[in-house]
Amino acid sequence: MPAQHLTDKNLALDLVRVTEAGALASARYFGRGDKEEADEVAVSAMRIAFQSVHIRGTVVIGEGEKDHAPMLYTGEKVGFGDGPELDIAVDPIEGTNAVAYGRPNAISVIGAVQKGGMFNPGHSYYCKKLVVGKDAADVIDIDAPTKDNMMKIAKAKGKVVNELNVFVLDKPRHTGLIQELRLLGARVHLYSDGDVAGALMAADPRHSMDVLIGIGGTPEAVITACALKGTGAQMLTKMNPLSLEEEQRIIADGIDIKAVRGVDDLITSDTCFFAATGVTKGDILHGVDYKDGFAVTTSMCTRGRTGTVRYIQAWHDRKKLASMSSVRY
Ligand code: FBP
Repeated sequence: MPAQHLTDKNLALDLVRVTEAGALASARYFGRGDKEEADEVAVSAMRIAFQSVHIRGTVVIGEGEKDHAPMLYTGEKVGFGDGPELDIAVDPIEGTNAVAYGRPNAISVIGAVQKGGMFNPGHSYYCKKLVVGKDAADVIDIDAPTKDNMMKIAKAKGKVVNELNVFVLDKPRHTGLIQELRLLGARVHLYSDGDVAGALMAADPRHSMDVLIGIGGTPEAVITACALKGTGAQMLTKMNPLSLEEEQRIIADGIDIKAVRGVDDLITSDTCFFAATGVTKGDILHGVDYKDGFAVTTSMCTRGRTGTVRYIQAWHDRKKLASMSSVRY
């Protein structure tokens, strides 16, 4: 494959059709209390949609190992089977509980990077994350006390700490962090799920969220890095195993557990694409909406080489698509 082909086409636009399929399929299971069902339909819709994308993709981050995941498992080949070779990170629903229990900020996401350019988190499930936009990208330090980071971020943004909007996952492990942030006077926004959406908010200069801090999924961090690559926003990460077993498995994988990894460590190639479609209503992407016989989706995509961020709204004619698509809209 000529190198030119790898760089010239913005595959993020093709990948949006795949995340749209995941979002459209799973949105039908909104609020039904069954996260497995919502996830299953998203996985199978995305797998079908991938077949029309001209890539030779290998899932690096997917639904898990083959024995447990029948589709989009780690190592599975996706795409039409021609075109560039890409490593794929896919989360058919980032925020499965949010879909099942009718909460905001669930999105369907894909990150794709030139083969070999994506960090493989192995058995690391959790890591510390600190995410800011371009304006504060150079001042953060994941090893520094929270107070120092907040003061530096506020200064870089021309604010004071009690004007900072901070995204934190509402988890028992964050009780101390939340208390500390409140003592500093920061405006703490608690979300039950979805730190990829949270990171997109913190990274977006037009959004009022200033920073994301806390412990979340490591695979989600790699997906987030695909979105931030080339935009100038920064995310620093450091593995934070929540059990001894997790720690031992990371060490057995041969991964340096103490390393601090930023966007460019997680994604080493500029040939990097990210696509996301909202499933439930959110602060960064609208969820799937149903109007006048249409299913309406809102998506975004980014391209590492240029840092371009696109927002795309699509109106899907449910009647027409019902007769020509295997995915139910
Ligand atoms: P999934 O729905 O993709 O499993 O993840 C939702 C999520 O909230 C992520 O955004 C976050 O990184 C992770 O879970 C945190 O894990 P946990 O809920 O176990 O604390």
